[in-house]
Amino acid sequence: MKHDFFEKNSMVLLVGILVVVAIGGLVEIAPLFLLSSTIEKVQGMRPYSPLELAGRDIYVREGCYNCHSQMIRSLRDEVERYGHYSLAAESMYDHPFQWGSKRTGPDLARVGGKYSDGWHIDHMRQPRSVVPESVMPGYPFLEQRKLNYGDVAARMRALKIAGVPYTDEMIDKAQADVVAQITPDSAEAKEMLARYPKAQVRKFDGAAPGEPSELDAMIAYLQMLGTLVDFAKFDAAGPNLR
Ligand code: HEC
Repeated sequence: MKHDFFEKNSMVLLVGILVVVAIGGLVEIAPLFLLSSTIEKVQGMRPYSPLELAGRDIYVREGCYNCHSQMIRSLRDEVERYGHYSLAAESMYDHPFQWGSKRTGPDLARVGGKYSDGWHIDHMRQPRSVVPESVMPGYPFLEQRKLNYGDVAARMRALKIAGVPYTDEMIDKAQADVVAQITPDSAEAKEMLARYPKAQVRKFDGAAPGEPSELDAMIAYLQMLGTLVDFAKFDAAGPNLR
């Protein structure tokens, strides 16, 4: 009988619907305000080293995201082709994220370590020298351009405001760390590695030691993508903080 009352008075029905929908909405949304983060922590994730960050900036500048995604979905064909599906934590320090929405080329979320630096050098100069059917444009100018890293500390400071946990020490040493990452076996490289575990240290562009090129930064970035989380130890059932 009570139901009749709602069904015969459209305005009352409307208010009733709004109340029910609002309860449903609150139950879903309210808890989010009480959580400091909805991203599960994952062991191994760290902010980008200054050289990797500079490479990422070039990736964004050149619009690589127009053809490449960095987000492996949990679908079987993707996981078989690219590896473990992407975790939210893996892009938590990306501002802006590079998930992408188009794949003219393959997903790059786990491209780190897939090829040698030499392969990347050839591929960036002229993609068709290593993949004859490639439709990717070449970026031969990257190896000729000196990396402009005078503003890398300022960029890190900006990211810190956005929530990336760069310490004051990391920001102070930012410029020195760019050079340290292309100077193997140096005391500076050791210090840099303590700040950025698993960072790879070498002259990425194949040239003699010296000034970092844009290609150094780009390859340093590509070679670290997807390498920070150890999936042999990762437990998808919950955060892996063991
Ligand atoms: C017009 C689309 C397009 C753009 C822009 C583009 N790529 Fe590609 N990329 C491709 C295609 C297609 C392939 C697959 C063929 C090949 O390996 O060259 C590819 C392959 C790659 C691969 C090898 C991936 C793998 O797993 O084999 C890397 C690394 C890569 N691109 C990096 C980049 C970077 C870095 C940029 C920006 C500087 C870029 N691409 C811009 C289309 C593009």
